[in-house]
Amino acid sequence: MSVPPRRFVLNLPSLSVSLRVLFTGFLVVIGLGIAMSGVQVLLTHGMADGKLGVSRDDIVFSYYGNRSDSRMAAKLAGTMKDKASTADKARIIRWIESDSPPQEWTSEVQAVFAANCVHCHGTIPGLADFRTYEGVTAYTEIDKGVTIDALTRVSHIHLFGIAFISFFVCIIFSMSVGLPTWLKATAIGLPFLFQLVDITSWWLTKWYPGFAYGTLVCGFSYSISSAFMILTSLYQMWVMPWRGRTSLENTWTELPPVGGGG
Ligand code: HEC
Repeated sequence: MSVPPRRFVLNLPSLSVSLRVLFTGFLVVIGLGIAMSGVQVLLTHGMADGKLGVSRDDIVFSYYGNRSDSRMAAKLAGTMKDKASTADKARIIRWIESDSPPQEWTSEVQAVFAANCVHCHGTIPGLADFRTYEGVTAYTEIDKGVTIDALTRVSHIHLFGIAFISFFVCIIFSMSVGLPTWLKATAIGLPFLFQLVDITSWWLTKWYPGFAYGTLVCGFSYSISSAFMILTSLYQMWVMPWRGRTSLENTWTELPPVGGGG
């Protein structure tokens, strides 16, 4: 007489109350956390281009930087426009864009400033002093976005932290019933894929601004897929059992159990 092998059955609607409370507490706190990080992204990156809302430019300014702009270049196109000839202004701009090398300062650029600027900047008290290299470079710094250091730090924190969060959200969701296997498998796999593509795009955006779209799309998709899993799990734990025992028993006892087919 052989006994058919029993499969390990755990499904959300029939969990004990204590497990449901545990899972619910976790999902609610994590859901809030994801919402908060959305708000945080809006406030930090979202304002990077000066406008509320995360756009491609925000991501570009945060990771790649705003390389066309230094205080000096902005002034030379603005209120200081008439203070030097076009050729001299172009010389200064080229020097700034090549990262203000000190050799070129001594060989050429200092003379340009001496001829055009220091009769005010260096003479009039209270004005920026452009007689020295240090005085000038205080205004020529270009914004190169996030540093490799910061990027490495944030990447590893994100990889570890988010993998943990995704793991627990997904394992709870894997106990849901009544969903086609492909849908469950896709929903569980996607957050990990989004996370990898997201972090890869941060790094690529540092050099190629076009990859900012990867970060935008992934961040958004991650939130959507997490919200789907969290809401489905909460629904199945609390609403499904309450909607009627009889019909439910028929529904989920016939379904393949978790860990196996589902
Ligand atoms: C006739 C005097 C005069 C000359 C010449 C002059 N500037 Fe100025 N500059 C000013 C004054 C006044 C200000 C402050 C008002 C303003 O920001 O427009 C200023 C401000 C600046 C600032 C902003 C400094 C800050 O604190 O943010 C920069 C950068 C600058 N000048 C660059 C230059 C450069 C480069 C040249 C030479 C090509 C030059 N200026 C020539 C009078 C001058």
